[in-house]
Amino acid sequence: MTTQTLQQTQSATLTYDGKSVTLPLVRGTEDEVAADIEKLRAQTGMITLDPGYGNTGACKSAITFIDGEKGILRYRGYPIEELAEKSNFLEVSWLLLHGELPTRAQLAEFTNEVTRHTLLHENFRRFFDALPKDAHPMPVCAAAVAALATFYQEPDSDSKLQETVVRLIAKMPTLAAYSYKHSIGQPFIYPRNGLDYSTNFLNMMFATPCDEYQVDPLLARALDLLLILHADHEQNCSTSTVRMVGSSQANLFASISAGISALWGPLHGGANQQVIEMLERIEAEGGDVQKFVDRAKDKKDNSRLMGFGHRVYKNYDPRAAVLKKSCTDVLSRLGIKSRQLEIAVKLEEIALRDDYFVSHKLYPNVDFYSGIIYKALGIPINMFTVMFAIGRMPGWIAQWLEMRSDPANRIGRPRQIYTGATKRGYVAIDQRGR
Ligand code: SDX
Repeated sequence: MTTQTLQQTQSATLTYDGKSVTLPLVRGTEDEVAADIEKLRAQTGMITLDPGYGNTGACKSAITFIDGEKGILRYRGYPIEELAEKSNFLEVSWLLLHGELPTRAQLAEFTNEVTRHTLLHENFRRFFDALPKDAHPMPVCAAAVAALATFYQEPDSDSKLQETVVRLIAKMPTLAAYSYKHSIGQPFIYPRNGLDYSTNFLNMMFATPCDEYQVDPLLARALDLLLILHADHEQNCSTSTVRMVGSSQANLFASISAGISALWGPLHGGANQQVIEMLERIEAEGGDVQKFVDRAKDKKDNSRLMGFGHRVYKNYDPRAAVLKKSCTDVLSRLGIKSRQLEIAVKLEEIALRDDYFVSHKLYPNVDFYSGIIYKALGIPINMFTVMFAIGRMPGWIAQWLEMRSDPANRIGRPRQIYTGATKRGYVAIDQRGR
């Protein structure tokens, strides 16, 4: 870059083989700058190569802003800390979907719409009956969301698409609770229209036909907070999957189902289950936290400190800070002394002082403390990533709608650098291997 700063220049110059090409710069509302390479191959024959897309913007988006260096997360401009304290999950869902906080009337109507669509078609019972009881709930939910496309026809209007949006947000908790009931051989508990979103879910999970289940309002609020914190996170792996699948004009159910599958990976949403299993392992092995931190640093040992590190955050994940405080609130309300929380806090203390973690800028992420709260709520460990999917639903949908409403949107189709065999002739089978 010449004497001008990045903020002042309007273009970048790429020089190669004695030639040069000018790339226009694209600037975001938070002063992020990108070199626009849309015409690079046509102008130079070259492409860029960026495995994992760590330096590549796939789109422009107005939904969520993250500043990884400063540990900032905002949904439509609102800081996550404020929304966590003052909002609720359905209000945040509306914000992500529509770009503004809803009026009282809009929120009341949206809440009513979601409440009235929580029930699943009775034929879904046969869907669950066909699945093994010990099936992990993530593939169950991915398959069930894809199956919703068989019950509801392709939306052919905006109002029908809006109905699909409401159905996904409304039915995901019901699908999740039904997958849990199926796994423990208990009858499904129907959603109840008189309960709020989080209370309804906890009731479907833990009520039985034999006895009423009183949902503690503080636990319902803790769950609502978890859902808010997971609601969107710009172009992460699963959201990029939802956008990619949707870019082929596949319907919203199919795109979301693909996103659920991507989220399941232990490096992504599956990490919350891995964190609790890691904390339980440390506890079972006598609680020697330093030993585990040393193993996580050892390149010969492929264990990682799950719930630590992030592609974007090179500072404390703001969601983890909110969750750490919520852990203490929920556990003290329940009168639970959590050895795993003690181990997690100790792990964090040691890691944040350790040169390896400091130099690699590895901090706790959203998955480090969330599992401790899920466990205190009575959610089984293999359902933790399903909880992440329930929370991420409005974010996935908002990103998909933004992609589909962008007239400049094209089917996603990355390029590659080929490193395989160059041209060669066919060899008859009895001539091979000589
Ligand atoms: C989520 O993208 C999002 O926004 C995701 C998410 C969302 O809301 O959608 O925030 C949700 O997925 C959070 C992340 C949950 N995953 C985990 O907690 C799994 C443990 N963390 C990592 O595996 C890792 O940090 C990732 C996957 C989160 C990020 O991976 P990157 O950016 O590809 O980094 P990397 O694997 O290339 O690691 C860079 C270096 C390596 O060391 P070097 O070879 O350079 O010496 O950091 C080391 C890694 O070995 N490292 C870790 C580590 N994470 C990275 N070392 C020990 N423990 C860890 N947890």
